[in-house]
Amino acid sequence: MNTLQHAAELIAGAQRLVVFTGAGMSAESGVPTFRDALTGLWARYDAQALATPEAFQRDPALVWGWYEWRRELVERVDPNPGHEAVARLDCTLITQNVDQLHERAGSEDVLHLHGSLFEPRCSVCAQPAPPPPGAAGSGDGPRTPPACGNCGSPVRPGVVWFGEALPVDVLERAVEAAAAADVLITVGTAGVVYPAAEIPQVTARLGGSVIQVNPQATPLDEVCALNLRGTAAEVLPKIIR
Ligand code: APR
Ligand code: ZN
Repeated sequence: MNTLQHAAELIAGAQRLVVFTGAGMSAESGVPTFRDALTGLWARYDAQALATPEAFQRDPALVWGWYEWRRELVERVDPNPGHEAVARLDCTLITQNVDQLHERAGSEDVLHLHGSLFEPRCSVCAQPAPPPPGAAGSGDGPRTPPACGNCGSPVRPGVVWFGEALPVDVLERAVEAAAAADVLITVGTAGVVYPAAEIPQVTARLGGSVIQVNPQATPLDEVCALNLRGTAAEVLPKIIR
């Protein structure tokens, strides 16, 4: 039996299945991962350096502009065959991605560990703010964030930045699902950002089988029962039937 068949059988026989996804899941939809070099106007910035509370404090318009650019980008692209395969599975879906591509492919109840581009909130009082209408044509670069309707402070992206806590309820549900899982599929994550990277390790530690889909080796390789070196859009439709 080859590795793909083996993976397909594990998945078909799973009682409690979890799928855990990272930026590589959306790469074939045209969304750059965090380790890809940025292009155009954003080429001189480092994506990781824009994703901090300090960066937003220093230059709110730069950080807000970056996230609005990304929101408009993910709105323009479509889910890929990997998202579609995952949507056919009866599973708990945990994602680090802040796009809505899993939902747009038909997945429900997605656990967003790192928040969403579509749920901005006030940077001071946390009141939710509607995402502004797409400013198509306004170009890349800095944009002044809207003012909170409640307290007038700048609105911030509804994502989790480096140094910030993950939403507690979401993290709890994710860890519970990972602990109960007999099979977990980890897709397109570098496995270096914690605590998210703990999720597949929890399953492995408690005796579940972890299947990894990633064209490259990651620090998660060693806890995985199967390492499938291919892309999400290529491999997932083959192992999910
Ligand atoms: N299919 C599957 N995997 C892919 C593909 C693809 N088509 N293309 C790239 N990958 C893999 C890369 O090999 C890499 O291991 O996806 C991974 C992407 O890594 P990162 O960009 O670091 O994304 P991720 O692991 O999701 O980042 C975690 O870090 O920047 C923060 O909060 C942000 O949620 C993000 C977190
Ligand atoms: Zn406010």
